Amino acid sequence: MTHMALEVKESLDERCNQILKNMEASLTARDRVGIQDFVLLDPYTSETAFLDNLRKRFHENLIYTYIGTLLVSVNPYKELDIYNKKQMDTYMGVNFFELPPHIYALADNVFRTMQSESNNHFILISGESGAGKTEASKKILQFYAVSCPSTKLLNNVRDRLLLSNPVLEAFGNAKTLKNNNSSRFGKYMDIQFDHQGGAVGGHILSYLLEKSRVVHQNHGERNFHIFYQLVEGGEEDLLRWLGLERNCTKYNFLVQGGCAKVSSINDKSDWKTVRKALSIIEFSESETEQLFGIIASVLHLGNIKFEANGQGYATVNNNQGMHWVSKLLGIPNQVLQQGLTHRKIEAKTEEVLSPFSVDHAVYARDALAKAIYGRTFNWLVNKINESLANKDSSRKTVIGLLDIYGFEVFNLNSFEQFCINYCNEKLQQLFIQLTLKSEQEEYETEGIEWEPVPYFNNKIICELVEEKFRGIISLLDEECLRPGEATDLTFLEKMEEEIGGHPHFTTHKLADKKTRKTLERGDFRLLHYAGEVTYCVVGFLDKNNDLLYRSGKEVMQQSKNAIIRHCFPFTEPDSKRRPETVVTQFKNSLADLAEILMAKEAWYVRCIKPNEAKQPGHFDDVLVRHQVKYLGLMEHLRVRRAGFAYRRKYEIFLQRYKALCPETWPNWKGTAAEGVQCLIKHLGFKPDEYKLGRTKIFIRHPRTLFATEDAFQVCKHKLATRIQAKYKGHRVKEGYLRQKEAATKIENCWRGLMARKERERRAWAVKVIKKFIKGFMTRNQPACVDNSEYLTYVRLNYLTRLKENLPKTVLEKDSWLTPPPIMTEVSHLLKAIYIRCMVRRYIRGLSVQRKAQLLLKSLTSSMFKGKKENYPFSVSRTFLDTRIALENINTRVLQMIRHEHIKYSVPVVKYDRNGFRPRLRLLIFTQEAAYLVEEAKIKQRIDYSSLKGVSVSNLSDNFLILHVTCDDSKQKGDLVLQCDHLFEALTKLSVIADKQNCIKVVQGSVRFDIQPGREGFIDFKSGQEFMVYRAKNGHLMVESTRTKTR
Ligand SMILES: Nc1ncnc2c1ncn2[C@@H]1O[C@H](COP(=O)(O)OP(=O)(O)O)[C@@H](O)[C@H]1O
Ligand SMILES: [Mg+2]
Repeated sequence: MTHMALEVKESLDERCNQILKNMEASLTARDRVGIQDFVLLDPYTSETAFLDNLRKRFHENLIYTYIGTLLVSVNPYKELDIYNKKQMDTYMGVNFFELPPHIYALADNVFRTMQSESNNHFILISGESGAGKTEASKKILQFYAVSCPSTKLLNNVRDRLLLSNPVLEAFGNAKTLKNNNSSRFGKYMDIQFDHQGGAVGGHILSYLLEKSRVVHQNHGERNFHIFYQLVEGGEEDLLRWLGLERNCTKYNFLVQGGCAKVSSINDKSDWKTVRKALSIIEFSESETEQLFGIIASVLHLGNIKFEANGQGYATVNNNQGMHWVSKLLGIPNQVLQQGLTHRKIEAKTEEVLSPFSVDHAVYARDALAKAIYGRTFNWLVNKINESLANKDSSRKTVIGLLDIYGFEVFNLNSFEQFCINYCNEKLQQLFIQLTLKSEQEEYETEGIEWEPVPYFNNKIICELVEEKFRGIISLLDEECLRPGEATDLTFLEKMEEEIGGHPHFTTHKLADKKTRKTLERGDFRLLHYAGEVTYCVVGFLDKNNDLLYRSGKEVMQQSKNAIIRHCFPFTEPDSKRRPETVVTQFKNSLADLAEILMAKEAWYVRCIKPNEAKQPGHFDDVLVRHQVKYLGLMEHLRVRRAGFAYRRKYEIFLQRYKALCPETWPNWKGTAAEGVQCLIKHLGFKPDEYKLGRTKIFIRHPRTLFATEDAFQVCKHKLATRIQAKYKGHRVKEGYLRQKEAATKIENCWRGLMARKERERRAWAVKVIKKFIKGFMTRNQPACVDNSEYLTYVRLNYLTRLKENLPKTVLEKDSWLTPPPIMTEVSHLLKAIYIRCMVRRYIRGLSVQRKAQLLLKSLTSSMFKGKKENYPFSVSRTFLDTRIALENINTRVLQMIRHEHIKYSVPVVKYDRNGFRPRLRLLIFTQEAAYLVEEAKIKQRIDYSSLKGVSVSNLSDNFLILHVTCDDSKQKGDLVLQCDHLFEALTKLSVIADKQNCIKVVQGSVRFDIQPGREGFIDFKSGQEFMVYRAKNGHLMVESTRTKTR
């Protein structure tokens, strides 16, 4: 076994166990009472065991039990808390056998099968009157209303589906002896679902309403609910308008049964429900009004009494009833009156009115009441269908609900019971056909080993009733249609004649002595599948003819009530051609119904009535046993037990489950039968779990199928994921390739574009370079086309470079950028301008002091620059105003010279003229003269006018010689001084005394006057170190160190 197979197998086994466990787990102690599925019943052929199980469960309020997928339901006759929302949720989407049996489980299973197989289904609910069919169908509808997907639109449909029920029940149900809410019409309802499972529409077919109830009710029974609801619940205004009194006993049509009030029926609140429902299923105000107008007029009609006149003809003397009918239906009183008391007879060319006898008139009145009610009921059904109709034409699947009147036996049974019971025979026949017969036949044709299960086939009874020419229906029709005096009794005689020997038929005349006692003369008895029923033949012909005299019909055609006009159209096939009799119409509609049902997959709910007294908790063994028997439940069980829960054509089975086996997935090459064999081998089905027929596989237990289905659900998701992944991958890959292609295309375009741009750029560059070279080559020629651009470039380039490299200070003025030849002149001019500009800016920026200083410095420079060796060192030394503050000059000296304005004073070393001894002195310049001062003594005054000149050496010493004119021998001679601030002092002197020109820089020796007529010499030279000494020749020798030029 492959890995996958193992996995599936394991999951199957696991699932089976799980299901069993769940079944166990979900069973509360109470649920475990008896068995949930009769298939598991051990003495499965024993009716007693069957009954025991049913009873045991019934007493625990477990009203549901399965026979396979068939649901047996026993009417509890009390409210059970098993129909709430929680229960619905519990049963939603859960496998059939995983929870205790419930009508919801069946409904859910039908729904899901419909969804997964996309086919149509119907649920046949059968059982005798009062067994719970209508309730069951309501429960199913409610379940769908809650469990189906809901949207606003769907809710709308849902509400109408749900609310069509109370309306139809009001008009079509009545209290009978069997059931307080007995359906007096057959109902087949299709619920249409879209492919998502939403209930999108519905359609109702109704069958043969028991109209006779309108005019006659047996003792203990009532008319249709709506009459009582209107009288009891109708609003005051409405009743007034309808001319009704709030008192049922006032109306002949409501009192015959003698039980207008029933404790279990609340007419008042039912009235409210109906009113509300009518508005929801789209009845307009006026339609509702007209509808109740009709209901009321039926009641008034019943109160019309006839009296015989002198000739014995009927006359009306109850004007009240007549008045209201005429008012409510909008028919002139006269017309109505005539219609009720006369009939039209066609005599050759004219129509003659023939008066009725009183009996006749009553008969005509009742016929009219029945016709009005019956037709109005049909109109109502159509109207509901309009509101349920789904206009969307997309494909729908349907679930049909068949809730038709159940088999019923009263003390007095009439035509209606005959029809109802015939209908039940037909349904039984259908059930037999679909289950017992076809099932067993199928085994046979499929070649499955099978021991036939005997069952009672009620075909014989159906034929007794419906066989052409010989059947009861044919005989009845014949009697109805034949000319001459046909009566109910002639009909009876005819039957005795024709079918007298039939084992299921007997009459008073035909019966043996013992039986005869139980039969009246006018009775005939049928042995139905569900038991004997004695029918009283009285009224058969009338009811079958359903005669409504033409005059009555014509009266109705004049009505102003829209519904009545709709129900009695002028176009009605006229009475010359006889309409089909009631029973034939019924027979045909049942045949149609069978056809509708046969096209769908069937599910069954078999309802059982536990007792005749509508009592909760009372289980009447005899009654139930009887129902079990005639419902064919034992046979059904035996077939189920021996048979197979599930079968499907190989093709369908394979198609659905082929994904569970690698060999069959995705496609099987061989025949479907082989494929299925391969598949189930792979799934590990055990030999007793299945059988292979000619065209189908048969699976014995539902759990095997459920396990397979569950495995499929798991697998489906896996497959879906894989397919999704593949698809997504494919999509992404496709997208990627597309993007890649696009990218290449874009890239190509882009590259082309770039290449073209590059080529253009290069061409341009070549041109530019060429031009540049040409310009370069012709740069020195006069401006022409060839060099103009180049020269512009050169100019620009030079100017830009120049801009970035301008000298930052005046001192850098020589670093001017060398211009290209064409810019020489410009550069020159620019340089001049720039420097001037710089100088100007520099000068502007100078302070007064600095300016004075610089003036002095420039003076110094003009005197000494390039002349005296140590001049450069002086440049950076700031000149001060004076070197000796006034307060440091002796006050006596000050007193003596102050008036001359002391301008500058500096300490000096004075060398004696004789002997050259150095002495520290002060040198003071005033406005007038230079003074040599020693403390308080003025040693020498040299008037500037007598200052002949000043000599300094060209070397780096600080000697200065002040030459004075000496006309006076008393006067002292020239001064030989040494001053640390030589340049400063001399500059000051030259400014103060205005003596620039007399300061001389000399080389070698300086001659000076020691005193007038006596000369001395100072020799200057450079040496290793600074020395001042008297040389041998008597000269003052000044040796100064050589300064390194910077
Ligand atoms: N499942 C149920 N739970 C409670 N009461 C029920 C149930 N089924 C039927 N009944 C009672 O039995 C009565 C008759 O049921 P109904 O469905 O009208 O019978 P049928 O349609 O078979 O003639 C109901 O009115 C109700 O009181
Ligand atoms: Mg019913």
